[in-house]
Formats: sequence, C-alpha cells, structure tokens
Amino acid sequence: MTPRVTHLLTERGESSVMNTMTTVDQPLIERIFTKARTAHGFLKRPVDDRLLHEIYEIMKWGPTAANSCPMRIVFVRDGEAKKRLISCLHPDNVQQTTEVPVTAIIGFHTRFYEWIPRLMPAKPELIDDFAGPEKEAIAQAAAFRNSALQGAYFMLAARAVGLDCGPMSAFDPVKLNAEFFPDGEIEVNFLCNLGYGNPGIVLPRAPRFDFEEVCKFA
Ligand SMILES: Cc1cc2nc3c(=O)[nH]c(=O)nc-3n(C[C@H](O)[C@H](O)[C@H](O)COP(=O)(O)O)c2cc1C
Repeated sequence: MTPRVTHLLTERGESSVMNTMTTVDQPLIERIFTKARTAHGFLKRPVDDRLLHEIYEIMKWGPTAANSCPMRIVFVRDGEAKKRLISCLHPDNVQQTTEVPVTAIIGFHTRFYEWIPRLMPAKPELIDDFAGPEKEAIAQAAAFRNSALQGAYFMLAARAVGLDCGPMSAFDPVKLNAEFFPDGEIEVNFLCNLGYGNPGIVLPRAPRFDFEEVCKFA
C-alpha cells in the first residue's frame, strides 16, 4: 500500500470552517521533494506558455504576509532578452542558461504594499505597516522575504507539473536590475531556469542536516 501523508487543506475561496481532511500522496512528495533534483543541464524540449500559466495558477495560492504577494516574474526565452540575461550571469551559470528553454526572473515590487487594500480587503489598513519613507527598510525586508517564499512556491509548483528547476543566485543583481527593471520599481531576488532536466548532467546528491542538528523544542 502506498504510504500517505495526512494534510489539512482548505478549498479555494472557502472559509476556514470549511476545512476538509484530505491526503497528499507519496509520488507527489517524491516529485517535488525527496526525488527531485536541481537541474544543471536541460534537454532540447520546449516548455509551453500554458505550463507557465499553470504554474502561476498553482503557486499564487501560497501564503504571504498580509497577502501582499510582492513577487513579480519576467520570463526570458530567447533573442535579445536572453543575451541581456546571459550577460548578467556568473560564468558557471552561462551554459545551463544558454540551453534552457525559459528562465524566470523572480523579482519583487518595491511598493508592493500599494496593492494591500485590494489583496487584503478585510484589513486594508495593513498598508500602513509598510508605506512611507520611515518604513522603507521594513518594506524592503518584507518584499524580499515574501517574494523568496513565493519563489519557493513557484519552484515546487513547477516540479508538481513535471518541470525541473535550476535556481541561480550567482549573477550581478545591479546589472540585471538595470537591464530588466530600469525604472527601479521591481528588483530581482533570484533566477530560475525551467525545463526538462538532462539526466546525464545531475550532480551527486549533497547531504542535508538531520532533524536533531537544526531543530529543537523551546
Ligand atoms: C536560491 C538558490 C540559488 C542557487 N544558485 C545557484 C547558482 O547560481 N548556480 C548553480 O549552478 N546552482 C545554484 N543553486 C543550486 C543549488 O546548489 C542546489 O539547489 C542545491 O545544491 C540542492 O541540489 P539538489 O536539489 O540536487 O539536491 C541555487 C539554489 C538556490 C535555491
């Protein structure tokens, strides 16, 4: 019998009192966590725009502070945009990004809080936690934190729909921001190559900490 993980989910759009017990099956856990590998090489297999929409439609439900959803994505496929992207990369990331069908630039909107009244209609006043020059550092930290979370939801959603991810932070963020976000409203967090991983180019699995090493009860 397939081992199953019990998990509490809420139906989309329903209140918490409508919670229902459901299950996540082991093959999905394997696909997005235990057997998934970071891709460093990609097959010549295209990724349809519809799949990118599907990933967004899944990951957008991941939680963020004040439901602020600060992440913004630019997808880069080819042509001039790809050349400009590659010019920003650390040399070690050039080959994998040259062959990948699409790279997601995961960024955040620096004035993400302006959308809080729309995105958090129950508490529109939460905009005041972030708006104003004296809150700039708080807003920047929140934008970075929550867009990183959304970037993680993005990668797990991509894996769930069958793609492989190659996240990258080795690039020049100042140059990349100037190339792709010249008005300064959006800033890059990290990059994520997306495609079908080349099974011939998988690094040996590196270890992870055991529970006892990094978790404790206070
Ligand atoms: C935010 C982030 C940045 C990363 N930056 C790079 C990078 O610049 N270049 C690269 O080749 N791998 C990069 N990696 C890949 C990691 O080294 C890799 O995900 C990790 O070693 C786990 O590998 P595994 O999923 O195969 O177990 C990055 C991963 C993350 C999540």
